[in-house]
Formats: sequence, C-alpha cells, structure tokens
Amino acid sequence: MTKVLVTGGLGYIGSHTVVELSSAGYEVVIADNLSNSKLSVLERISKITNQTYEFYNVDCCDYSSTKEIFEKNKIDSIIHFAGLKSVSESIQKPIDYYSNNIESIITIQRLICEHNISKLIFSSSATVYGELSDPPFTEDSPTGACTNPYGWTKWMIEQMLRDFSNANNDKKVVILRYFNPVGAHDSGLIGEDPNGIPNNLFPYITGVLSGKYEKLTIYGDDYDTIDGTCIRDYIHVCDLAQGHVKALQYMQNSRAGVDVFNLGTGRGTSVKQVVDAFEKSLGHSFNYEIGPRREGDLPVAYANTLKAKEILQFCAKRSIDDMCTSSIKWQTEINEITHD
Ligand code: WQD
Repeated sequence: MTKVLVTGGLGYIGSHTVVELSSAGYEVVIADNLSNSKLSVLERISKITNQTYEFYNVDCCDYSSTKEIFEKNKIDSIIHFAGLKSVSESIQKPIDYYSNNIESIITIQRLICEHNISKLIFSSSATVYGELSDPPFTEDSPTGACTNPYGWTKWMIEQMLRDFSNANNDKKVVILRYFNPVGAHDSGLIGEDPNGIPNNLFPYITGVLSGKYEKLTIYGDDYDTIDGTCIRDYIHVCDLAQGHVKALQYMQNSRAGVDVFNLGTGRGTSVKQVVDAFEKSLGHSFNYEIGPRREGDLPVAYANTLKAKEILQFCAKRSIDDMCTSSIKWQTEINEITHD
C-alpha cells in the first residue's frame, strides 16, 4: 500500500485525517512531538479504525530524527500538519512560531528531495486572507496583511512552497486553506483538546458546558452583521479530514506544481447563531455575556468553495448542529477520561 506520512498526526486535525485516510485504504505513518497532543490519541485512533500505526515521537525541526522515518519507511506522500497554531500565543511568542513553523517545513522539503517524494499537502489557513479581501474569499483573493505571526508563518510557507515548486518541477504541492475547523469524531474518542485556556469559540463553549469556565464572553455584538456578532465559516473536522483524502486522490493524476484550495462550507454563521445551535443541541441555555470586541477579529470571513468542489469533488456535508452535538459528545467523553 502507498504510505502517507502525517506529521502532527496525533493533533486535532491530524488525528481525524489519519482516521479518514485509513478508511480510504491508505497506510499511514504518524510523526508527532506531543507538544500539543497526547500519546493516548494513538490508541484511540486504532480503536476507531481497528488498525495499528508506525508512530515516531519526532520534532520535524530535528532533521536527523525526522530523516529516520524516511529511512525506515517508503513514503509516497506527506501531509504536513505539525506546527504551532495559536493566534494569541503567536503574538506573545513570535520567535517560537517563526522558528518552529518555518524550520519544520524546511526539514520536510529537504527530505522530500533527498527521498524523491513527489506529493506534499500543506495545512494552511484562511488567516492568510487578512483584511485585504472581501468575503466570500476565493483562492485568488489577495493574501497577506496578516494580523498575527501565526498567520504570517502560513503566508510565508505558502510562498516558500511556490519557490520550492519552481526549483523542483516534478513535485506536486497542494495548499489547503482551512476556515474554522470545529466538532469531533462521531465516536467521541477524538476531538479538540487544547492546552490551556482556549481562544477559539467552540472549545471555550464546551469548557463552559463542562463547568471549567463560568461563562462565554461574546466579543462584540455591534458589527454590521445579521445580529451584530462576527460571522465565520465553521467546517466539521471530519469534513475537513475528508478534504485531505480528496486532495490526495486528486494528486494521483494531477500535474506537477502548486494548487491552492479553500476548505470551508461556503456558509457564514454568526457567534450568536452558534450559541443558539449549542442551546438547541443541549435542550437548555448556558451562561454567556456580551463583551468588547476582540482585537484583530474580521467581522465576516467565509469561503468560496467552488474550486474544491469542481476539482477535488469536495463538499462539506455536516451541519452546524452536527458540529455542536459532536463537540458536546466529545466534551462529555473527555470529562469521563479525565475523571478515570
Ligand atoms: C470565532 C468567532 C470571535 C471566542 C481561528 C484562528 C485560526 C484559524 C481559524 C486555523 C470570532 C468569537 C471566540 C470567545 C467569542 N484556524 N469568539 N468568544 O478567530 O475566526 O480564527 O480559527 O488556522 O487558527 O484564528 O476563530 O474561534 O477564535 O473565533 O466571541 O471566547 O468567535 O470573536 O468572532 P477565528 P475563533
């Protein structure tokens, strides 16, 4: 079977992608340095897929230990998730973000050339669109003017990959720009498990539901939107993971070069609509207040998804209700885990 190396494969999106890849018949090798994930995720993935995996506790910034993976396995393609991903943390620790995210992709590019690997999928983000574009964002919308070092690392890496492709014209590179990945696998066995206090809306809400936080603060309700709260394109993490399988299948016969795709639903949902969806799933309300705007928030951000639909035959299927119910199930499960 063709072996796919998934770096950051025990992380939130990585673990869901490993599950979808396995279901699609790919043999997956996992690398993760466990800086923002747990080894227990490996056995949970196996419980879902009934398969075992070659796992390497490796930091992709470390060339020699990462190289061993390629010496021990015939890798056909790489999906690179490994990297730091907190917007707020990146503002506090820019050096960590630039060194980690840039160094790891440099290591991967070196090893791609040394081991004659032809396919790379890179985990990018809608944050590269910054404030220059009007939604719905297309892949040709202007990028740059990022509002934080995390976004800049994604933008810089996209440029690095274009240069890499120009210098290595036999390589296929797919850049996937994620909108807002949320939710959890239907089994309740894997989901988002952030270190520390989450900045993102969904994990904060599930933290309020589990009693970890007293209430949700909605950052501003005076935006020029349907109900005054910000609008985002939330996409279920299992749909997002499926998008990676579609990208890999596309690369079997695509031409060499760089392709960019948005992975979103094409639908905008406001913060208040998310709160309403959670309360509908719960069957009761939960504690929230309206607070001041959060610096750097775009009022509206959602995807034009036509390109992924036409070229990858990718279309997100799950609803905002599915995202909420799966988040609640995961939070219940993780509480049981921490109690056991
Ligand atoms: C969504 C909305 C907040 C928390 C993030 C990351 C980035 C990217 C996409 C991958 C905003 C509001 C939030 C809270 C709130 N992911 N909110 N109270 O900022 O769109 O982008 O996901 O690359 O990593 O930047 O997501 O979930 O932080 O915020 O009112 O306690 O929820 O103001 O309008 P965001 P988010």
